[in-house]
Amino acid sequence: MLDTPLTLPCGAVLNNRLAKAAMTERVAGGDHNPNDYHLRIYETWARSAPGLLISGNIMVQRDSLESGGNVVVEDERAFDRLEGWTAVARAGGSHFWAQLSHPGRQTSRLVNNSPVSASNVGLSDWKLYARPRPLRESEIEAMIAAFARTADIVRRAGFTGIQIHAAHGYLLSQFLSPLTNLRKDRWGGALENRARLLIEIVRAVREVVGPEFPIAVKLNSADFQRGGFSEDDSLAVIAMLERESVDLIEISGGNYESPSFMDLNVKESTRKREAYFIDFARRARENCRLPFMITGGFRNRAFAEATLKNKEADVIGMARPFLVDPEFGKRFLSGELQEVSLPRFKVGRGISLMSEGGYYNFQIARLARGRQPKLKLGPYRAAAHILWHETKKSFAHRLRSPFA
Ligand SMILES: Cc1cc2nc3c(=O)[nH]c(=O)nc-3n(C[C@H](O)[C@H](O)[C@H](O)COP(=O)(O)O)c2cc1C
Repeated sequence: MLDTPLTLPCGAVLNNRLAKAAMTERVAGGDHNPNDYHLRIYETWARSAPGLLISGNIMVQRDSLESGGNVVVEDERAFDRLEGWTAVARAGGSHFWAQLSHPGRQTSRLVNNSPVSASNVGLSDWKLYARPRPLRESEIEAMIAAFARTADIVRRAGFTGIQIHAAHGYLLSQFLSPLTNLRKDRWGGALENRARLLIEIVRAVREVVGPEFPIAVKLNSADFQRGGFSEDDSLAVIAMLERESVDLIEISGGNYESPSFMDLNVKESTRKREAYFIDFARRARENCRLPFMITGGFRNRAFAEATLKNKEADVIGMARPFLVDPEFGKRFLSGELQEVSLPRFKVGRGISLMSEGGYYNFQIARLARGRQPKLKLGPYRAAAHILWHETKKSFAHRLRSPFA
């Protein structure tokens, strides 16, 4: 099953059912262009030839970054660099999709002290994240145009699909959640209004990329916060997306305050069972004919095969396993590797997201330099690494230094 091709509604074909889910690379310099580090990382992943490689989140506006090391595509200034990146990533026959994103309030003070969001609701960790101001109506219209402009550029530069990031508490997810969207205008209130920005972006992107180009949406099954975006909300948004010309829905969950996408607050039973969002996907598929990708927790090949065979998903999304073994995709697809195990940190809540993020960012940085993963890295060193890395990147961003 894993090696069975998949034809998407737009007609594009994925060669197999394994996808490398988006992982922010954070290796760009202050010019925010793809560089040789991106090429090295994707050269490695392309050799594994998963059906789909999704880029780390690419920012659609230069003044709103999730990290100082993000790639930004607002105009064509680095068009040749983008072309070089897509050529490398597609060399093994994988589709290479650009994940388009805006962080909204989930941006540290190091890179942005005046973020925007649906409303002025700040993250609970106000020391690290500044309180956002609500976007004005004209800025929302500009946001829709920004997603469409970036989609148009990346398509022409050789990306073979777009994924719109509406999960994990980033801007579109902030609009979807009643906890962070307190607006009284047509962009807030009822779910139909909260989903309007996402739907308008899907339409605007479709308009520029044409009918035969894959568009995916990464969506939370829920935010896992009391009063937040719920599973019922998510089912309703999936029904709205089905009425638009979307080709694939990727299911994930959580946000920075409730990081279920990295299994940091899922129940022990859920973690042991693999695939944290599979129960939700089962429910969602009862009434939806769109192809589904589930990401989060897949580690065992037989389980992935069974998920596909039982039609619980059409694509298996995996992220962290691609960082602990540069050959992971190839070995998993061929059956040489039956199970991958990842380290687990036992530290306090606050530091564990930092340690987890730091650990994998450290491995990406090694991959970018052509080095093998270094799996022995303690939680405190991992947290220190990410703090130092992000500080450096935010200086490069502020100084607009291409130094990476
Ligand atoms: C270092 C790192 C960076 C990530 N960056 C992104 C990102 O840019 N966009 C996104 O949608 N998810 C991102 N994620 C989440 C992954 O796509 C995925 O949902 C999560 O890691 C769970 O899958 P896994 O259990 O296979 O790792 C990131 C995860 C990691 C570990």
